[in-house]
Order: sequence, then structure tokens, then C-alpha cells
Amino acid sequence: MEESEVMSTMESTLLVLAAVLKDLQTLTVAGAQWGDEGKGKIIALLAPLFDFVERFSGASNAGHTAYTPDGKKIVSHQIPCGLAAGKTCIIGRGLMFDPVRYADEYREASAILGDSVPQIWIDNQCTVWTPWHTILESWIERQRVKRSGKSINTTKRGVGPMAAIRDFRIDVKTWDLIGPRQKLIEKLDGIYENLKLLLEAELEARDCEDCLQVPAEVAELLLASSDLLARDVIDAGDLSRKELMQGSRFLFEAAQATMLDLLAGTNPFVSAGMSTAAGAAYGAVIPPKYINEVLLVAKFYPTRVGEGPFVSEIWDRSTAERFPEDHKELFVPSRVRDEFLARTLYRINNESASPADISQYLQVLQYERGASTGRGRSVGYPDLPTLRYAVEVNGSRYLALTCLDAMSGLDQIPIVVDYELPNGSIMPRGSMAVTDVLFETKPVTRVLPGWPKDIHGCRREKDLPPAARDVIRLIEQETGTHVLIVGTGPENDAIIVRPPKGSLS
Ligand code: IMP
Repeated sequence: MEESEVMSTMESTLLVLAAVLKDLQTLTVAGAQWGDEGKGKIIALLAPLFDFVERFSGASNAGHTAYTPDGKKIVSHQIPCGLAAGKTCIIGRGLMFDPVRYADEYREASAILGDSVPQIWIDNQCTVWTPWHTILESWIERQRVKRSGKSINTTKRGVGPMAAIRDFRIDVKTWDLIGPRQKLIEKLDGIYENLKLLLEAELEARDCEDCLQVPAEVAELLLASSDLLARDVIDAGDLSRKELMQGSRFLFEAAQATMLDLLAGTNPFVSAGMSTAAGAAYGAVIPPKYINEVLLVAKFYPTRVGEGPFVSEIWDRSTAERFPEDHKELFVPSRVRDEFLARTLYRINNESASPADISQYLQVLQYERGASTGRGRSVGYPDLPTLRYAVEVNGSRYLALTCLDAMSGLDQIPIVVDYELPNGSIMPRGSMAVTDVLFETKPVTRVLPGWPKDIHGCRREKDLPPAARDVIRLIEQETGTHVLIVGTGPENDAIIVRPPKGSLS
């Protein structure tokens, strides 16, 4: 397609979305499952309709992929995806901030966007990462494995310890990065003195006793980006409240997803942040009355990295995690990859494929590996119980259903409609069993007819095969939401917008 044609497609898509969302001052975008649902693309798509895009939670553990209007790929970790759309961005107080990775991220963005990097405001009271948080994290993980044989398998960005040190109220804040050096060192001393014994024990276990950095060294590391931050660290809560009072429109960007939320997710196999829409007001330090509507991004088939229960999982987590590393040739466009996909699809359709084949087929087809860590993601069958729960928790009226194109060519689509609990009963709709129970829970599966047509890049609902339209309707009936957006590929214009009846009049 010509570039001008792509632009006009995107313009008309945006016009429809603008009409549907016209009455909303704010929209919060959150993930329904275990992350990697494609929030980045949806946020970049919607960003032009808002004045600000604000990230309210998470840390550098997130990896949000978005494309600029002219197709340049940007993976952001802390900067909101409004970046790709050139919108003013805010890093809210709920995000735990890593200045070293931020400087790298900013440099990469500048290399891609040149002079059009938008203004990025950073709240002055974000908790700040130090190398000690990461060492403490491996200590805690080591103890966990010793005790239970299972780690959380985190992203190793020190997220849990940052939240814990913040709760102890001895953390360093972003304002300390732009203040006097000596004051920063004093604050760092407070963390260091409290953690020293644990840090030494962890480094000894790694035979690296000399690796422990003292406060003055850590201050040096953190202050390396202070020039960059000096311009942009402000009281972003105050800015957001004033702008909202004057009628500015905000798009709130969650990180991770509902099932990784500290309280709503599968604790302890979760991240340490607020990943549901409820976190938007708290993390941006604004009144909850401004959280108008929630768009929940749900990947048609869920994926998970790290440990924890995943009832609809097709196959084995640890093999899936290593798979992209062990089979690099399948994760780059090539003839070997095309042949693998064609051969495996054939076996799936004549029912001679194993669960391993099905999982690997989807993993390869969709390049399922983490944007932050490179770990392979394990794939699950479409999972209605999790989706119904996520809709209830977030109170979302709209869904963005991504990756529907991945089902193209499958004769049949198994879909998990219920969870059978260990006592033989069916989990009540909209609820979620506790983690220990979920490990013992079985999926109740129904098989839906698939469609042979490749719907990759499809942009009109009427061009979808009837079976694909039936799937969308089923999701709507089961969740009581409206599927506003259907993703049919990673490209910006691979999208179908479905305005609710009457919303354009
Ligand atoms: P942490 O956030 O590094 O503490 O990791 C806790 C759990 O959340 C681990 O299972 C991670 O794999 C998972 N996790 C954290 N961030 C993401 C994400 O952006 N996508 C998917 N999984 C994530």
C-alpha cells in the first residue's frame, strides 16, 4: 500500500475513534492478561485524540512496542507510548524510575525521532532505582527457590525491592536526582545501611564480594543523567490536576496487566505495581472522578512469561522461555521459518500436532518473546474466565481484541470457557480463584470453527470471515463489553474499528 493510502486509512480510523470517544475527558488503557497484549500500538493509535499520555505504574520492566505514523518502531520501557505519536508524555508518580535506563531510552528515542521527541515530564516524587535493588531482588529470589523450589522469575529490574523500600519510606525520589549531591548521598546511605548485610550475603553467594558499590559510587551512577532530568522533573501530579480542571484530555497508560497486578493478579507471581485501571488515579495523583472509561486490551490468545499459574497454557513454560534462543532461525523472516509454519499448521489441521507443536506454532508466528528481556512467552488457548474477571476488575466497557489474525488458517479454535476447580465445581463467572487453587484448576474447553482466510491486515469488519465475526460476538456476549478495536497485525493500520451502534450519529 502507498504511504498516502496508509495515512488516509489511519486518518479515517482516527476520525471514527474520535467520534466514539468524544465525550470522554480521559481514557485508561490497561492489559487484561499477563502483559504483552499490544497496549503500545493501541496507545499510540489513540494518542492524537488526547493532550497528554501518562504512564502511572510499573517500572523499566515494561516493554511497550509502538510505531510512529511513518512506520518506525519504538520500544519504550518507562516513557509512555505517546512518544511514538509525538504527544506530550508524563511519567507519573506511580512509576518506579530507573534514571540509567531512562537515559538510554531517551537516547534511542532521539536517534529515531530526531528533533520531534515530544516533551516528557517526570514526576518529582517517583521512587528511584539503585543497583542495590537488583542485588536485593536476586537475594530474595534465591531464598524463595531454597524454600519452595520456585522463583517468580522476575525481569530483574529490581521492581519488588523498589516497592518495598518505598514502603519502608527510605527510598530516593526523582527530586533527589536534581538536588545537591551530598543530600543524595545521605539518602543513599539510609538504604545502604539497612541493606548492607543482605547485599553482602548475596554478593558472597555470587563470589563477588568486591562488587558492592558504596553510596558515593551509586550517586555518581544516578547523577550521570541529571542534566537530562533537570529540565523535565516537575510536580506532575500538580500539572495533571490543573490541566484536568481546565479540560485537557488525558490518556492513561497502564503497564503489565490485570493478572500481574500486585493485588488483583496471581500473587505472589505478579509484579509489584498497580496494573489495573484503579491505579491510574493513585499513580497520577489525581482524583478518581477523572477516570472516565477503561479500554481493556486483550490478546485473543494470552501469553505468560515468568512463573505462576496459567490455566489455559498449551504447553511448557520453561521450554517456551528458551525456545527463541534455541531456535533463532525461526524468529527472523526466512524460508526456514515459512516452512516451519506451513508444516506445523498442516499438522495442526490434520490433528497430528502435539501441544508442543501448537504452542511453538503460535510462538513463532507471532514472534512471542519479551521486548524487555528477550524471554520466550508461553502461549495459552483463548481464555474467557480470565477475560471476564479482568473486565469486572477494570470495569471496562470497551475491549481492544488484539492478534485475532494469528488464528488464520486454523480449522478449529479451542477456547477455554470455564475453569473446573479442584473440588469439581465450576469457578463462578467474574471471580478468580487464589493462586494455589489455580495451580490445580483445569480448563473446560469448547472448540469453535476456524477460518481458512488470512485476515492479517484486514481493516473492515465486513471483510472478516463469518467465523471470525462470530468469535468477536462471542467475546462480547461473554464479557458484556463492546469490542471497539480488533487488531489484525502489528502494523499501525492493521486494525478494525467497530463503533457501537448509534455512536456516530
Ligand atoms: P517483575 O515485574 O520484574 O517483578 O516480575 C514479576 C513478574 O511479572 C514476572 O513473572 C515477570 O515475567 C512479569 N512481568 C513483569 N513485567 C512484565 C511485562 O511487561 N510483560 C509480561 N510480564 C511481565
